[in-house]
Amino acid sequence: MAKIAILGYGTVGSGVYDVINTNREIVEHKSGEEMEIKYVLDLRDFPGDPVEAVLTHDFNDILNDDEVSVVAEVMGGVKPAYEFTKACLLKGKSVCTSNKELVASHGAELIRIAKENNASYVFEASVGGGIPIIRPLLTSITADKIEEIKGILNGTTNYMLTKMSEEGLEYEDVLKDAQAKGYAERNPAADVEGHDACRKIAILMSLALEAQVDYNDIMTEGITNITKADIDYAKAMGRQIKLLGKGKTTEEGSWAMVAPFMVGKDSPLYMVRDVFNAVSVVGNMLGQVMFYGKGAGKEATASAVVSDIIDAVRSKDKTISINWSEEKYELMPIDTLKTSKFIRIETYDKPAAKKAITELFGETSFIELSDYEDEIGFLTPVMREIDLNKALSGLLSEEGIENILSAIRTEE
Ligand code: HSE
Repeated sequence: MAKIAILGYGTVGSGVYDVINTNREIVEHKSGEEMEIKYVLDLRDFPGDPVEAVLTHDFNDILNDDEVSVVAEVMGGVKPAYEFTKACLLKGKSVCTSNKELVASHGAELIRIAKENNASYVFEASVGGGIPIIRPLLTSITADKIEEIKGILNGTTNYMLTKMSEEGLEYEDVLKDAQAKGYAERNPAADVEGHDACRKIAILMSLALEAQVDYNDIMTEGITNITKADIDYAKAMGRQIKLLGKGKTTEEGSWAMVAPFMVGKDSPLYMVRDVFNAVSVVGNMLGQVMFYGKGAGKEATASAVVSDIIDAVRSKDKTISINWSEEKYELMPIDTLKTSKFIRIETYDKPAAKKAITELFGETSFIELSDYEDEIGFLTPVMREIDLNKALSGLLSEEGIENILSAIRTEE
């Protein structure tokens, strides 16, 4: 009999409790053992909820109970999750988590501590919610050099961008809608400013590079500056704006970034709507593979946590092996990265603006939409970021150019 504890009875924690109870037969069959949820830790009370029978407010009840072999840490945030996780691992209890902040900041250290104590630290649910992506990276795509990982890693922003595109709404209106539906937090910064996606691409790149990618080194832009006008231009060009997390390994080194991209119809990411996530991985032998599914939500995320619990129960007294060293990986700056950007220029003299743009970037086709009178849009050629940004600053002093309204990278 495997005895389990759940740290946190919020959305994911209550989902873990439900998945184990609803799918008990399957979960026990796959684990090879009966399973008992012996404790659920939460500061709150839940009068009338069956969880009351196993609810505790004291973490030490769990820590000091030698019968508890697997702990699901689904509290979120670094404090006190870090201390709790470390204490459990030091006692030889395996920890399964959906906590991307903690995995991104302390994952390598916690994996080492797990190994030193014949336990496991596993985190399938930390990236892409219910989408299996961590385990495939660790156990399936093992014969390849991973050349690229990119994806839609945040459900909330994908929902918002989809709604802006399909219903012609402004950013502020879709944010309110996402908050009303419970997708976005009251303080939505982690999602809309790209921090959540940044933690996730940091985890994926750390696993690909088997070293510590510091999320602070990842250039991160969110969607807060995306307007209905940007979306209208994207649609006029047969594109969708998507917030992408991207990492790439080249001969010179690796880089990673999070930013909104104008995605073309030929990209498999173009069709990923609503709260869905998708992750594309390119291996040097395998080519491209895609993982698609619900990147957030109670049941989907809990399903991934329970899959880790099953793995941990099956791996009793052994460590689930994960190569992720604590050594810091120095990412390359994105300056030398080659990209094309979609640019919107404010102008009251379109012929002069077009002349200046053509002189700087060469022949280009301009996009003019009747709803946006005093502006033009165009795509730059593919250039190094550093050169492109310099050229755009130079453009500002040219006749006919009032302002640069948007600059959004493209993704084919
Ligand atoms: N806020 C996150 C999202 C939850 O919207 O994707 C899952 O990490």
